[in-house]
Amino acid sequence: MTRRTVAVLNQKGGVGKTTVALGLASAAWAAGLKTLVVDLDAQANASWTLGVEPSSANFGSGDAMTSRHPGAAADMIVRSGWGSSIWLLPASSDLIERDADTRRDSTVGRLARALDGVTRDFDLILIDCAPSLGLNTACGLAAAEGALLVVEPTVFGLRGVEPVLDLVEHVWSTENQQLDLAGVVLNRLPAISSDAQARVVELNKMVGTRSVWKPAIPQRVLVNQAHGERAPIHAFGSQARDLIDVFDQLLGRLRRWSNS
Ligand SMILES: Nc1ncnc2c1ncn2[C@@H]1O[C@H](COP(=O)(O)OP(=O)(O)O)[C@@H](O)[C@H]1O
Ligand SMILES: [Mg+2]
Repeated sequence: MTRRTVAVLNQKGGVGKTTVALGLASAAWAAGLKTLVVDLDAQANASWTLGVEPSSANFGSGDAMTSRHPGAAADMIVRSGWGSSIWLLPASSDLIERDADTRRDSTVGRLARALDGVTRDFDLILIDCAPSLGLNTACGLAAAEGALLVVEPTVFGLRGVEPVLDLVEHVWSTENQQLDLAGVVLNRLPAISSDAQARVVELNKMVGTRSVWKPAIPQRVLVNQAHGERAPIHAFGSQARDLIDVFDQLLGRLRRWSNS
């Protein structure tokens, strides 16, 4: 892939950022793509689901950003519990303090610096951001080529889109002109809901039809089950058929963006 680093973000918690990052990682796992997941959320849900106890990880994304060495992340990346193709830069406990750091402009490039020379070893790098538009998310965007927004088709979900787009624009103009809005993924689309359909139409108008990736992710119990078992959705076989298909298509969309 030509462009390979994507930050998955939204300032809201619980909208499915980690679900999308891990669903794409699961599709990449099934496709045999060497993938790095960067966990920027102190809650460490992605790290945990990828089989790494945050307490057992000696170093993580916060340490990588604190280091002044280009490529510092190389020594902090660990193999995930999903096998040898999926790797992780775990979350670290100092991420919360870092997020409140107001010296944004002087430190926003630190994740990019920590990943310098590291990303070329991977086919895909997925940065799972925290529910915040603070420094860490700005660092994630500064290190990415694509911003992937995760949105729920509700009134509140849509109200949250503009501030995220503003941050993408800000990081693009001040720090990282390679950054592109890769797309918007809709999560938890109900099968029948005229309200949700109206929100989808509104979202298409807001960001442009081309930016809204298809298909949307349906609400499925299996998402929680996969997280609970710390396993890729693709390991569940036929009982996960529709979710597997959705994430395969989303990975396909990501690869088209990456080669565009
Ligand atoms: N499409 C879905 N179907 C069922 N459960 C979902 C879905 N998307 C997310 N969830 C569940 O909702 C919760 C929040 O999702 P998560 O991905 O952790 O959000 P975020 O990373 O944005 O905080 C988790 O328990 C997750 O398993
Ligand atoms: Mg999360």
